[in-house]
Amino acid sequence: MATHTVTLSSDTDWPGFRGEARALLARQVPPEDVVWHTRASAESDLFAALETPRAQGVGSASAIVPPAFVRLCETVVLHDDPDRFGLLYRLLWRLVHEPTLRRDPLDADRVRAHHMAQAVRRDMHKMKAFVRFRPLPQDDGEPTLHVAWFEPDHHIVEAVAPFFVRRFATMRWAILTPERSVQWHPGAAADAEGGEALPTEGRLDFGPGARREDAPPADAGEALWLTYYRHIFNPARLKLAMMQKEMPRRYWQNLPEAVLIAPLAADAAARSERMVEAPATVPARRIVPIARPLLADEDSSADPATALAQLRRATDRCRECPIGAHATQSVFGEGPVGAALMVVGEQPGDQEDLRGRPFVGPAGQLFDRALHDLGWSREALYVTNAVKHFKYELRGKRRIHKTPTQQEAQACLHWLESEMAQVRPQAVLALGATAARAVLGRPVAVMRERGQWQTGPRGEPVLVTLHPSALLRGDPQQRDEAYAAWLEDLSKATQVVRAEAGETAAR
Ligand code: URA
Repeated sequence: MATHTVTLSSDTDWPGFRGEARALLARQVPPEDVVWHTRASAESDLFAALETPRAQGVGSASAIVPPAFVRLCETVVLHDDPDRFGLLYRLLWRLVHEPTLRRDPLDADRVRAHHMAQAVRRDMHKMKAFVRFRPLPQDDGEPTLHVAWFEPDHHIVEAVAPFFVRRFATMRWAILTPERSVQWHPGAAADAEGGEALPTEGRLDFGPGARREDAPPADAGEALWLTYYRHIFNPARLKLAMMQKEMPRRYWQNLPEAVLIAPLAADAAARSERMVEAPATVPARRIVPIARPLLADEDSSADPATALAQLRRATDRCRECPIGAHATQSVFGEGPVGAALMVVGEQPGDQEDLRGRPFVGPAGQLFDRALHDLGWSREALYVTNAVKHFKYELRGKRRIHKTPTQQEAQACLHWLESEMAQVRPQAVLALGATAARAVLGRPVAVMRERGQWQTGPRGEPVLVTLHPSALLRGDPQQRDEAYAAWLEDLSKATQVVRAEAGETAAR
């Protein structure tokens, strides 16, 4: 028969257990000689009267246990099993007397304690997830008290309360459970006795258990929550078994959304089918487009230089396609209003993006060399791109050029059209397929149509040739030859570049 009876002050009296266990260990009292009670259980236990005097002042054992064991004890103490203190003391005793225990993770006592700790942690997690507060307006002019009802499996209210303090630091709230209640008074002075240090200013009061009826009924805010829940419920992703595992039925009574689960689940298969059969919806644009600027034949009161400056600023804000959001800035065209030849490239590259000017990187340098070889002056040209922002892909720290999609080029087209309307060039030189398609309004096979004058949608002469990047990427053995052929293409526009104002473009 047990010779020692210990009564702890509460179900969660971890400091009391620790003190008593140390003292018992110091007196070499084996676990089978000890009966553990808590104040609540002692009241209904006839033998509690034979209680051993509390072990205050008794020398502590010098046993050193791993910190993980202390953490395990702190959690297991919260379990509902009346035998938990006995189990923990037995483990402590065995840790001291059986050195092999530390190396035996499959030991039955260890396994049982770990299962108990797991159950406590799961219960704490559920409490954090499934507590739902309902407002209870106060008559006394005090701020509204938010009250929740919850039925934990274990003695976890004290342990979880600091979580709710952090979460709802400025709200007055109370959580009622059958065994314990807790109330948070934000901003109130903490008890002189101290207790656990809280993450924010206020006072936590713990009290006795309550009844479900003490918590307020559903409120208007709940109706809004239900509407939201109904809308986010995705029938195609419904996994009932998993859902019930995560949100066991016994918690449903406290969850307002639980009333929706059965009807939504019942309709899930049919609703998924309706969704599959429904026509695709047009995805919402990420960013509201900026108003389209005026085109050539529309009336504009601004003079061309001012209009171009406005366009330049507007392209910088353009988010009609996703490219702009990742670029440093837009790269607008540059050159004189009324330039005889407008040169259109594809899109700015890395250097252009950083400097905000077209054709200043490697492709621009090759283009400048061609201008020099042709005897053209860049200042006389208007140089721009079909797409105004740099599209790239990050590889490590490098930004690698990515060809814009047809949709992206199309989204950008109105900027080019507006630019052309203000510059009014006599002819256009399109470098590469993206530029040619933007200017001619149709897909262009550059190798087939290169070096020939085409006619744009407004009747403007358009000369198509390769983009300088294509020459840079080409076979180095054939670079000279490719460059000469390219110059030959470009030279077809020489007459335009040199044209006097009012002279008709060459055909
Ligand atoms: N490539 C282009 O098409 N345009 C530039 O501005 C730079 C490189």
